[in-house]
Amino acid sequence: MTTSSPLNVLGLPGLLHGCDYNPDQWQHAPEIIEEDFQLFPHAGIGVISLNIFGWAKLEPQEGHYDFAWLDDIFARAEKQGMRIFLTTPSAAAPNWLTAKHPEILRVDENGQRRLQGSRMNFSPNSASYRAHVSRINRALSERYGQHPALALWHISNEYAGTCYSDESEAAFRLWLKKKYITLDALNLAYWAAFWSRTYTDWEQIRAPRGHGEHTTVHGLCLDWRRFVSDAWQDFIAAEVAAVREGGSSVPTATNLHPGGMPYDPWRLTAPTDIISWDAYPAYHDRDEPWDTGWNVVVHQSFVQDLCRSLRPGQPWILMETTPSSANWMDVPKLKRPGVHVLTVMQSIAHGADAALYFQWRAGRGGEEKFHGAVMELCGGPESRVFADVIAATHALEKCAPVAGSLASAEMAVGFDWDNWWTQANIISHGGHGRSHYPWEQLDLYRTCWENAMPCDVLDPSAPCIDLARYRILALPQQYLLRNGLVEKLTAWVEAGGVLLTGVLSGWVDENDLAFESGMDPAWRRLVGLRREELDHLYPDETNHFIFPKDNALGMNESYAAIDKLELNHLDGAELLASYGSEFYAGMPAFTVNAVGNGFVYYQAARSRQDFRNDLLKALWKKHGLVPLLPLGTLPPGITVQRRKHDDGREFWFVLNFRRIPQSIDLGKIQAVDLISGQEINGSINLTAYGVAVLDFGGIISQPILA
Ligand code: GAL
Repeated sequence: MTTSSPLNVLGLPGLLHGCDYNPDQWQHAPEIIEEDFQLFPHAGIGVISLNIFGWAKLEPQEGHYDFAWLDDIFARAEKQGMRIFLTTPSAAAPNWLTAKHPEILRVDENGQRRLQGSRMNFSPNSASYRAHVSRINRALSERYGQHPALALWHISNEYAGTCYSDESEAAFRLWLKKKYITLDALNLAYWAAFWSRTYTDWEQIRAPRGHGEHTTVHGLCLDWRRFVSDAWQDFIAAEVAAVREGGSSVPTATNLHPGGMPYDPWRLTAPTDIISWDAYPAYHDRDEPWDTGWNVVVHQSFVQDLCRSLRPGQPWILMETTPSSANWMDVPKLKRPGVHVLTVMQSIAHGADAALYFQWRAGRGGEEKFHGAVMELCGGPESRVFADVIAATHALEKCAPVAGSLASAEMAVGFDWDNWWTQANIISHGGHGRSHYPWEQLDLYRTCWENAMPCDVLDPSAPCIDLARYRILALPQQYLLRNGLVEKLTAWVEAGGVLLTGVLSGWVDENDLAFESGMDPAWRRLVGLRREELDHLYPDETNHFIFPKDNALGMNESYAAIDKLELNHLDGAELLASYGSEFYAGMPAFTVNAVGNGFVYYQAARSRQDFRNDLLKALWKKHGLVPLLPLGTLPPGITVQRRKHDDGREFWFVLNFRRIPQSIDLGKIQAVDLISGQEINGSINLTAYGVAVLDFGGIISQPILA
């Protein structure tokens, strides 16, 4: 990377390439450490994430620190011009600590306290664990906080887990007291008179669990999930505070868990400066990874666009991915040639400024000894995996000009954890197990992904989300309306925003209570509809959206309406399509409500992908959103994503997720492919799993949307 490269999210030039590095496991073999530092530059590894599970080595006995091995690594890294992400070691407590303080260990739903073992096995609510973590974090910060090699504080590792200890339940009650102040308010919010669940003492409140309260009191179940995320947020905030007390002002990040994110990332990431997450896609698990199972490729892009939305205006960090396979996968297939660079570049395409691996060198023992690593047990600098890593280095180096640039989507899809939890777990309108949240969001996103329409994935209520930058916002199944959301949406629509929402939206308030008159009056005004009933269909049944011939949106005359269908009445909105059959034939199936300068579209029933595809394309055309390429240009399995600098210099990432070469006709586009250095003039040929990064150098000869 050259010093003239633009600065990345950490204020360093170019894109960063790095890995988890665990020298604490190799202190008995100094020649290995020697070799590591010889090989880092060959692999193009410029950043090491250090000390992730190093507590036992760092503090072998309470209060007795051994910094020598870390000092050595810092000195070597500095000498080689490498940067360090120093991890606070809370993810794995040492044995001496849990032996002395078993109360820090997590308690499961059945009240059983865990024994020491594995990692991430502590309670975020344990005051004693917090005190010890703060102590070691302060010590690390005092020692390394000003070190020139330190680039980032990596706060712990993939926080996860729910604790049901007495200490956790007491913290939950405190959280509830702060929120509701009185038991009367809590009982009302929980509709506790139902089945005589009224609380008369705060101490009666227990965490919901399988053999206790788990379906009846919806507000309680939802609050518990919020509390668990808040408890983690609090724990993270305490970790960061200790680092700051130690005198370091270097930025912080915590790596979000790749496995579905059971905790609300908007809450978890609040105390840190930079967003980071870990990605372990199994693209190499199928021949056509872009179209398998739960659509692995599109899902990865979806989460990555969520990462960039969590902190608007800032690139993020891919803290972990495997350079080859992950041994915990059902079928840990090797990455096929090309897949590695493709997956690294996918994260860069969606806004990452750094890509790191788990891990540099495979250990000889433990659960992950046969997990992929840059230096595998039978691998080495001559290996195929090592060569793949070098190929990624080249791509990242060539793409240095991308550093610091941002995505600039005018389309967004809403996705928030309150709605996910409520609809996936604690809804009671029937159709259990058939909640389509967040599949509905993913399917809408997929239409954008396949048609070169940049799209953010966001929580519309989040204070950091300024809706003004979006022209179209899709909020499917916005079932739960947080306080203030309808006002925020209304102001944005009045100013010209276009909202697409529909079935199962606006049903309950922030506490998961149905609205007194069935609908929030402000939501009713916004959508221009009055809801009356909800019909459910069996999977083999369909009704239809019937659009008039030659309708203004250019939609077909008929599409299947499936699964869940709201029976609504017009209350200001205009009818665009009606139901085709049943006793409610003719009732509104798709409507639009003009509000100020904007519009609210309401899709009263679930649909299939053909409807979503046609609808989004129609809305883009009608409301002036232009995809990067004319519709129909992209062959299946290819996406185009964009990043942009403030000065207008744009980069388009063209990613081929198929194992066959594919070409695209780019019309009049002229650009340079940063990776190959070739001029692109009119068309582009991508190899199997190929990537091109088009650099327009500030001038875009973009085709006009057909
Ligand atoms: C991650 C974790 C790493 C390592 C890796 C293996 O989730 O953060 O420490 O365990 O999985 O795939």
